[in-house]
Amino acid sequence: MDLVIEGRVYFRGSLTRTRIGIEDGKITAIGRNLRGDELVDHGDRLLLPGAIDPHVHFRDPGQEAKEDFSTGTLAAAHAGVTTILDMPNNLRPVITSAQVADKRETVSSRAWVDFGLFGGLSRFSDIERMADDVAGFKLYMGSTTGNLLENDDRWIDAMLRRVATTGRTVSVHAEDDAILAKGPELDMEEHELHRPPEAEVSAIRRLAAMGTGARVNICHLSSAEGLAAMDGTGFTAEFTAHHLMLDSRFDRKGYSKVNPPLRTMRHREALMDGLKAGKLHILGSDHAPHTPAEKEKRFDEAPSGMPGVETSVPLLMGLVKHEFIDLHTFVAVTSLNPASVFGLRNKGAIEVGMDADLMVIDPKRMARIDAKHLYSKCPWTPFEGWDAIYPVATILRGTMIMEDENVASARQGQEVH
Ligand code: NCD
Ligand code: ZN
Ligand code: ZN
Ligand code: ZN
Repeated sequence: MDLVIEGRVYFRGSLTRTRIGIEDGKITAIGRNLRGDELVDHGDRLLLPGAIDPHVHFRDPGQEAKEDFSTGTLAAAHAGVTTILDMPNNLRPVITSAQVADKRETVSSRAWVDFGLFGGLSRFSDIERMADDVAGFKLYMGSTTGNLLENDDRWIDAMLRRVATTGRTVSVHAEDDAILAKGPELDMEEHELHRPPEAEVSAIRRLAAMGTGARVNICHLSSAEGLAAMDGTGFTAEFTAHHLMLDSRFDRKGYSKVNPPLRTMRHREALMDGLKAGKLHILGSDHAPHTPAEKEKRFDEAPSGMPGVETSVPLLMGLVKHEFIDLHTFVAVTSLNPASVFGLRNKGAIEVGMDADLMVIDPKRMARIDAKHLYSKCPWTPFEGWDAIYPVATILRGTMIMEDENVASARQGQEVH
């Protein structure tokens, strides 16, 4: 055995003091008496599966000044995220297999953690050919950053039936564009009025009524009614830290502008209840970095989106510490469920045969989020000053890539398949 790590290991649903044996990046044994070339004893610290963030916008290629794959994946590693899935709404959208290949060529050598790429769904997408090259498909039913949009039932139905034959999951930006009000909006309240819960509900209901057989994952679920509309659909629900922890009282003008919008307390509470009840399945940061210059434009012109890849998982661990949610929920939504929804067979749990992707947590190390100490290029966060627990180490396929919030190894992120 190359490496043996000891600690309180999250193994099959409980915390057990034991050892994890690692060889060639894989977990090869789990047990109390393992020996190896090297033993690292983490004492009372928790060893949890590395998080999988299945929703980031790293802006690479095209807008590398906002974020690139290097800074984005470093930010991920800092937060205990060992796998990210990157969205296709680049400056030039990624909607054909040739474009996926081009993007891969540009970004793969920059990755500090493992990654997968989404293929955008458009009328021109070669869905069957793309399937082998993407971690999942993305459908935009409402307009948002970028120009990917398909809100016509006939096209959506046809595309999702083709997706169903590939077995891939389709993540959906579920806001019915026909219900979104266009035209100028001056503030947060108007932004919310223009993109009401009914838009979310309508998109979910239309998808459910199609019954295409595709595996559908609803992104950034934002409303009580949207959550209720999920019942009986068989779709999975992805949620963000900002919709769970912020509401419309958090008004920093353009900085608080995001799609779907931050809503009232009532919605936030419904999401928290849903999370506790197991109705929200996946934490996705929707990391959408925009520059302060853009966010400080007139509200109307400021782009929508907030950063999150470097704060979401540590914030959620803070919620575990403060006993808002339990550790099982944390592990389910950060690793177990995203791995199963996106078919990442080697990831998502501490089990023999899996990649040795881990985060080491010292529950006593509560910290305050400070944008100055983040690796992301995005120089601001809506969570400035909030309590969070950052991992003391992040391990990717057996290699410690981050230790005490410092880079600890060479870059070695790989594409997931
Ligand atoms: C995202 C972005 O900026 O790429 N913006 C956002 O407000 N969430 C796009 C998206 O996920 O809708
Ligand atoms: Zn979206
Ligand atoms: Zn209006
Ligand atoms: Zn997004």
